[in-house]
Amino acid sequence: MRNHGGGLIGERHAKAVLSGGGIPVLLDISSAGLELVKKELESSFDVNKQIETYKVDITDNNELNKIKDALMRKYGHIDILINNAANNPKMEGGSQNMDAIRFHNFPLEIWNSDISVGLTGAFLCSQVFGSAMENSKNVNKGVILNISSDYGLISPDQRVYRREGIKEEQQLVKPISYSVVKHGIIGMTKYLATYWAKTGIRVNTLCPASLFNNQDSEFVKKISELIPMGRMSDPDEYVCTVLYLISDASSYMTGSTVVLDGGRTSW
Ligand SMILES: NC(=O)c1ccc[n+]([C@@H]2O[C@H](COP(=O)([O-])OP(=O)(O)OC[C@H]3O[C@@H](n4cnc5c(N)ncnc54)[C@H](O)[C@@H]3O)[C@@H](O)[C@H]2O)c1
Repeated sequence: MRNHGGGLIGERHAKAVLSGGGIPVLLDISSAGLELVKKELESSFDVNKQIETYKVDITDNNELNKIKDALMRKYGHIDILINNAANNPKMEGGSQNMDAIRFHNFPLEIWNSDISVGLTGAFLCSQVFGSAMENSKNVNKGVILNISSDYGLISPDQRVYRREGIKEEQQLVKPISYSVVKHGIIGMTKYLATYWAKTGIRVNTLCPASLFNNQDSEFVKKISELIPMGRMSDPDEYVCTVLYLISDASSYMTGSTVVLDGGRTSW
């Protein structure tokens, strides 16, 4: 089994893979992030569980192919791919000048980088690791899970990021590239789900939302008011859903979007 991405949710994906008896293989550009996640997993699971990590930029096709070849030599199969990495600015509660990420002068450089990690990275990983699944001798050849967001379904409500005493043009906003990447990944899921449907590779999307990660109380209050359940989510609330989506329990599901958002997109 394989997985990709360290970070807040990446760690939970690895927990899901471990709970299902698989071997998580975490790919991340940050070696510090990988170390942190590996230590956390080793402390919460049996230390003898195998956890593999690779420092890699997922926009680098050659490096991805080298990792795929190494995994195929070692294990002979790759069963799961979770496309998790995205540039996800954690601007909640910050007071820095965010002028540069507002739409009117949004830099092409940031746009290109965000599209490259969030969409091109998922495209390349699907191409490299999905093709390895195609050659599997199993009937259920593999599963791809693409991580979107509630912002893949609705526009960010920029009012939650507003701060008193900051000029209008310097108010915090979730960048346009985030919406485009998160909507785009749902399109990628539908395309690949139908493209691979008859081969036995399933492709679905998970939309997590509003994860609590020690944001300041003003932000937590504002966002909770937009959520029918009245609270943010605990990152661990995703683990069982991920396990369901990457296992045979969801064997008839492909092309679907699973939304865990406390009801936010129903309002
Ligand atoms: N945190 C939330 O509230 C939230 C809500 C909805 C959806 N999501 C989605 O969940 C996913 C994970 O979010 P998170 O909060 O855990 O983010 P995170 O920033 O904690 O983790 C993302 C990881 O991707 C890695 N990464 C970035 N560029 C890379 C590259 N080029 N190659 C390899 N690795 C790279 C980063 O080093 C980081 O470890 C993202 O797709 C995000 O959009 C998050």
